[in-house]
Amino acid sequence: MLIRLAGLMVVCAASFANAQQPIVIKFSHVVAVDTPKGKAAERFKQLAEERTHGRVKVEVYPNSTLYKDKEEMEALQLGAVQMLAPSLAKFGPLGVREFEVFDLPYIFPDRAVLDRVTEGPIGAQLFQKLESKGIKGLAYWDNGFKVMSANRPLHKPEDFRGLKMRIQSSKVLDAQFRALGANPQVLAFSEVYQALQTGVVDGTENPPSNLYTQKMNEVQKFVTVSNHGYLGYAVIVNKKFWDDLPPDIRTTLEGCMKDATRYANAIAQQENEDALAKVKATGKTDVYYLTDAEKQQWRQALLPVQKEMEGRIGKDLIDAINKESASMGYK
Ligand code: LMR
Repeated sequence: MLIRLAGLMVVCAASFANAQQPIVIKFSHVVAVDTPKGKAAERFKQLAEERTHGRVKVEVYPNSTLYKDKEEMEALQLGAVQMLAPSLAKFGPLGVREFEVFDLPYIFPDRAVLDRVTEGPIGAQLFQKLESKGIKGLAYWDNGFKVMSANRPLHKPEDFRGLKMRIQSSKVLDAQFRALGANPQVLAFSEVYQALQTGVVDGTENPPSNLYTQKMNEVQKFVTVSNHGYLGYAVIVNKKFWDDLPPDIRTTLEGCMKDATRYANAIAQQENEDALAKVKATGKTDVYYLTDAEKQQWRQALLPVQKEMEGRIGKDLIDAINKESASMGYK
């Protein structure tokens, strides 16, 4: 009798201890804390820990401190981390090449069209494609339009000829730089600064917040504010982890993610404007704005990439996004 009582007490103590253990969400990402994504991840952490009264603990691992680009997606699928926010340009290797539609040059005339896509049926359909990979899409976070950088002025398309340009792992970005006569090279984000510093690559593209926080401007003499393409994120979780959460916790976290997303998308533009101003203020990097004539030349050189990539991304998807633009008055 005593033994049974002791056994019962051990089980109760264990379940009580277990009930007290917080649910841990490891959130890995590759950018600096002082960026739109870095700040939004911290905001999600703060909201999740506050609103679950400590039942959930979010451990944020910024700046590739836990996993680099490619590794983090594998870690998520294995359940070694629970949450990521990879660039939309990094889903091709996962087998969901449709996400590379976000990389197409000039596919989004402005943020409003982008929001219509990510917040509407197109964004939801893209998230649906992740589920068979054991991944659940929770939100889209913005980081805005990209600038180009190199150690020579980049005013006209022909200025890219022969340059080794670092890209994210996206076939669309590969096609983009080949259309400019450059040689694209995929490198992990954490390796870009050193690759630029040592001349492994000559230049790259990113929103100003990434360029500045990774100190790329210290090894790039010329920046062109081209806004030729977009860079945003999908906040994703390991699907089994998410589905197995206690329903009340999952509902609370969904609310936290909604609020963190609102925050992320509200700060992105200003963060990038501030970063560009800081690059200019160093006086060491020339920041150039394309003339209207040059913008036209860039569009002429890059728009054919949309047609070229129909086979990879799907003509219907590209047409659907261009239809959204048309419905908002863009031709
Ligand atoms: C890059 O690899 O250039 C970006 O995806 C980094 C990031 O996550 O913003």
